[in-house]
Amino acid sequence: MRFLCFLCILIINFGDFSHGFFKVSRVREQPEQIHLSLGRNSTEMVVTWTTFDKIKGPTVEYGVKKFNQSIEGKSTKFVDGGSEKRSMYIHRAVMTNLQPGQTYVYRVGSESGWSPIFWFTAVKDGSDWSPRLAVYGDLGNDNARTLPRLQKDAQNGQFDAILHVGDFAYDLNSDNARIGDDFMRQIEPIAAYVPYQTSVGNHEQAYNFSNYVNRFSMVDSSTGQINNHFYSYNLGPAHIISFSTEFYFFLEYGRSQMYTQYDWLEKDLIEANKPENRAVRPWIITLGHRPMYCNTKDTDECRYRDNVIRKGIPVFHVLGLEDLFYKYGVDLEIWAHEHLYERLWPIYDEQVYNGSLSEPYTNPGAPVHVTTGSAGCREGIDPFVINPANWSAVRISDYGFSQITIHNKTHLTFEQLSAEKDHQVVDHFTIIKAKHGPYIKKTV
Ligand SMILES: *[C@@H]1O[C@H](CO)[C@@H](O)[C@H](O)[C@H]1NC(C)=O
Ligand SMILES: *[C@@H]1O[C@H](CO)[C@@H](O)[C@H](O)[C@H]1NC(C)=O
Ligand SMILES: *[C@@H]1O[C@H](CO)[C@@H](O)[C@H](O)[C@H]1NC(C)=O
Ligand SMILES: *[C@@H]1O[C@H](CO)[C@@H](O)[C@H](O)[C@H]1NC(C)=O
Ligand SMILES: *[C@@H]1O[C@H](CO)[C@@H](O)[C@H](O)[C@H]1NC(C)=O
Ligand SMILES: *[C@@H]1O[C@H](CO)[C@@H](O)[C@H](O)[C@H]1NC(C)=O
Ligand SMILES: [Fe+2]
Repeated sequence: MRFLCFLCILIINFGDFSHGFFKVSRVREQPEQIHLSLGRNSTEMVVTWTTFDKIKGPTVEYGVKKFNQSIEGKSTKFVDGGSEKRSMYIHRAVMTNLQPGQTYVYRVGSESGWSPIFWFTAVKDGSDWSPRLAVYGDLGNDNARTLPRLQKDAQNGQFDAILHVGDFAYDLNSDNARIGDDFMRQIEPIAAYVPYQTSVGNHEQAYNFSNYVNRFSMVDSSTGQINNHFYSYNLGPAHIISFSTEFYFFLEYGRSQMYTQYDWLEKDLIEANKPENRAVRPWIITLGHRPMYCNTKDTDECRYRDNVIRKGIPVFHVLGLEDLFYKYGVDLEIWAHEHLYERLWPIYDEQVYNGSLSEPYTNPGAPVHVTTGSAGCREGIDPFVINPANWSAVRISDYGFSQITIHNKTHLTFEQLSAEKDHQVVDHFTIIKAKHGPYIKKTV
C-alpha cells in the first residue's frame, strides 16, 4: 500500500514523467488568456495566448463557420521578475488572408490541448466606414466595475476595437504575476472577440515593464513589428497612435527610450500629415497614460503647469508633447491615470481655442483632451478640486468607460457611460471638422 501511494505521489508531482508514460493532456499545456490585437492591416488579426508548460507547434485554426485555415505561431518563454521566477510560454500567431468585414471562428492550441471556439469580425477595409471604440484606463483585477458591461457589449458586436489606456490588473506582476494571469483571464471574454489595443501605464513598470511587454502584441502597422510601448495603426478614417508616458518617469530603465519614442512620434506624424494620407484618414488620435492637464484633487504631475509630458524636460525644454501634437494637428488626445472622467475645451498652452462660443468643438483651434481613467480598480475613484481651471469643460467622478464613434471624415462623437448609473450616457460631445491639419494660431 505504502509503495502504491508513493507511486501516485510521484505521478502527480512529476508531470513530465507521467506525460511521457500516459500521454495525457495536462492543464499546464492547456491554452488560456486568449486575446486579439490588430495586425498590419484589415487582412490580418493577431492572437496571443499562454500556457504554463512548453508546447510543440502552437497553432491557430480559423475560417468562416468551419476551420479551413491553420497557421503556426511562435512561442516565447517569459520568466516573471518576482521571487518565484514563475515562467510561462506566450504564443503568438497571425491569422492572414482575412476578408475585411467577414466574421470568423477560431481556436488556438496544439497537439496538447485546444481552446474553446471564439469568433471575431475582421475590421473593415479603407476609410469609408464608422469605427466604434470602447476606451478606458485603469482597469484592475479587483473592483473592475465596468467589466461585466464591456464583456457583454464586446460579445454583442458593439465595438470594432477596445483601447485600454494603461494601468492593468493592479498589477500584472503582483503575487508573482498570478494577478496578471487572473486579469488576462478576466478580459478574455472581451479580448478574445474584439482586438484589445493597449497603452502602457505606471502600474506596468515592474522589471522594466516585462509583464506588459510579454503579454501583449501591439503591431506597428508601418513596420509590421510588435512594439507595445509605441505603435500606430489605421482604423477607418482615423490614424491612431499609442505611446508611453512612462519613459519620462522610470528613467532607471534608460533615458534613450524617451528620445527614440519622440523621434518616432514626429516621423509618424509627418507621415500621417502627408496630404495624400490625411485626405484619406483625417482624424489623428493619440493615447497616452498620464495626462498633460487635470483638475484632480491630488498631487499628480498633471496638476503642475510645466509637467514633463506637456513641456518636456525642465531647463532643456526638449521632448515636450504639447507642441509636437499641436504642430501636427492632432485632433483628439486621450489619457487616463486619473480615476475619473474629465473633458477639456480645445486647448493649447493653457489657453482655450473654442471653434466658437456656441460650438466649441466645431472647427476647434487646438486639440481636444479627454481623460478617462475610471474603469474600476482597487484604488477607487478620484475627486476633483473645488475650483477647476477655466479650460475644464466636464468633470465626472463615477466609474465608467468611454465610447467613440468615428462617423466619417468630419464627425466624431465621444460618449461617457456611467457604471453607477446603469451605463447611461452621462456626457457626450461631437467634434466636427471641415478641415484637419496643423492648427493656425489665432492672433489676438
Ligand atoms: C496587408 O498587409 C500584407 C502584408 O504586408 C500585404 O501583403 C497586403 O497586400 C496588405 N493588404 C492590404 C489590403 O493592404
Ligand atoms: C475557406 O472557406 C471559405 C468560405 O467557405 C473560402 O472562401 C476560403 O477560400 C477557404 N479558404 C481556404 C484556405 O480553403
Ligand atoms: C528595458 O527594456 C527596453 C526594451 O523594452 C530596453 O531597450 C532597455 O534597455 C531595458 N532597460 C534596462 C535597464 O534593461
Ligand atoms: C469655450 O466654450 C464654452 C462653451 O460655450 C464656454 O463656456 C467657455 O467660456 C469658452 N471659453 C472661451 C475661452 O471662450
Ligand atoms: C484661463 O486660465 C489660464 C491659466 O490656467 C490663464 O492663462 C488664462 O488667461 C485663463 N483664461 C481666461 C479667459 O480667463
Ligand atoms: C458624417 O456623419 C454625421 C453624423 O452621423 C452626419 O450628420 C453627416 O451627414 C455625415 N457626413 C457625411 C459627408 O456623410
Ligand atoms: Fe496610472
